[in-house]
Amino acid sequence: MLTGLSLTPLPRLLLHSTLRPPPPAPCVFIDDSRTQIRRFVLAADRRRVSPCQGPRTASNSLCPTTENRKLKTAPQILEKCRTPLQIGSRLLTDRFLLAPLAGYTHLAFRVILRRLGGLGLATTDLVQATMLWSGHGRSRELVATTPEDRPLSVQIFSGRTDDLIRAAVWLQEQGYEGVDINMGCPMAKVNGSGGGARLMCSTDNAVRMVEQLIAAVRLPVTVKMRLGWDATTLTAPELAAAFEQIGVAAVTIHGRTRAQGFHGSVNRDGIRQVVQAVRTMPVIANGDVRTVDDALQMLQDTGCAGVAIGRGAMLDPWIFRRIRQRVYAESEAADGADTDPSPDEQMQFLEQHFELMQQQHAERSCVLFRKFAAWYGCTLGIPEDLEDRLRRFESAAEFARIVNEIRRRHGERARRVPTALLKVPNGPVEHW
Ligand SMILES: Cc1cc2nc3c(=O)[nH]c(=O)nc-3n(C[C@H](O)[C@H](O)[C@H](O)COP(=O)(O)O)c2cc1C
Repeated sequence: MLTGLSLTPLPRLLLHSTLRPPPPAPCVFIDDSRTQIRRFVLAADRRRVSPCQGPRTASNSLCPTTENRKLKTAPQILEKCRTPLQIGSRLLTDRFLLAPLAGYTHLAFRVILRRLGGLGLATTDLVQATMLWSGHGRSRELVATTPEDRPLSVQIFSGRTDDLIRAAVWLQEQGYEGVDINMGCPMAKVNGSGGGARLMCSTDNAVRMVEQLIAAVRLPVTVKMRLGWDATTLTAPELAAAFEQIGVAAVTIHGRTRAQGFHGSVNRDGIRQVVQAVRTMPVIANGDVRTVDDALQMLQDTGCAGVAIGRGAMLDPWIFRRIRQRVYAESEAADGADTDPSPDEQMQFLEQHFELMQQQHAERSCVLFRKFAAWYGCTLGIPEDLEDRLRRFESAAEFARIVNEIRRRHGERARRVPTALLKVPNGPVEHW
């Protein structure tokens, strides 16, 4: 049952998008910066390609690091998972975090994952700092939140220190609890203005920037970055060590370079080197985690403090709950606690996610929800013709009819934990 999205605002907390339609956007930097992702999604929609279809290639697959089987996890790893994680002033009960995914990790998706359980901290999509403090474009919609949507960090990006500071101060004044600086985005539009992964090229500049930001706000400041710009400039360990010195609360490392884009597989040795470069600052490892085994193995291989999961959460929204079940089941020597959601629960999930979207986006929710159809197809065992309809539906009434049909035909398509093709921006990274 949908318990309803509470729209009771915390004092000073933003719910603009739930209360009024977004203003016309004269400057939609965020959207521009995602052109390639949008183009890609649109192309996939046109081709009616599911992330679950087609041959796996090095460039578009989420390389499986472990098969979907239960590995024996070292007792000290499980013990670590049962220990809360301190990030700045925040104590997280779970060490498994939602990585930001522009276009997906909106309020509705964050809330629905939280309801399933096991999610330690979520971060918003990246938001351009100037847009945020000046209130332009859809930036305020991207950071819309509710009391249920906690703990939350807002991710901002810019190549300019003053913009980052103004955005962070604005967030603090509105009652947000954490700010994350994007130093990993590979998109040309973001890098061209000195932001995202470009910041990793000039370490002194990046450290100065973050130091000034930390001095300007009381909020815990975290940084999400890649291993470096390319294989010859792996600056993440050096940056992480410097960030620890100036008081950064945690860093998240996507174990690829900017030059790699989403190609190849995640370099766990590279992440481990970042872990080894710091003393106590938590390092959150990220990349290619799509099963419980992947997540626990990441902890074991890298020594990281926590794991951020992005695409794996869209392919299997129950992944955080599964991890929690495994972590606590093994402590009691219980087996098989990594339970699959029942068909009813799966349908409820679909309905609730769409309803949450409607509460925030009204008529735009159909368009926004369609993007999820292909990701949910395998996990929810949605027959392919219905998945196709979900990718094109135009109204809430049509959505309800499709879900009823899925319910009736549930089980027709074998449900599986996806070893799916995961569509990401492709082609030479210079052209993104
Ligand atoms: C569609 C898409 C959008 C993304 N948007 C963001 C973003 O807004 N901010 C960010 O720091 N990383 C972003 N990323 C990178 C992810 O957070 C993550 O680092 C990367 O996908 C690897 O993790 P995963 O394999 O768990 O997805 C995005 C990735 C994808 C595929």
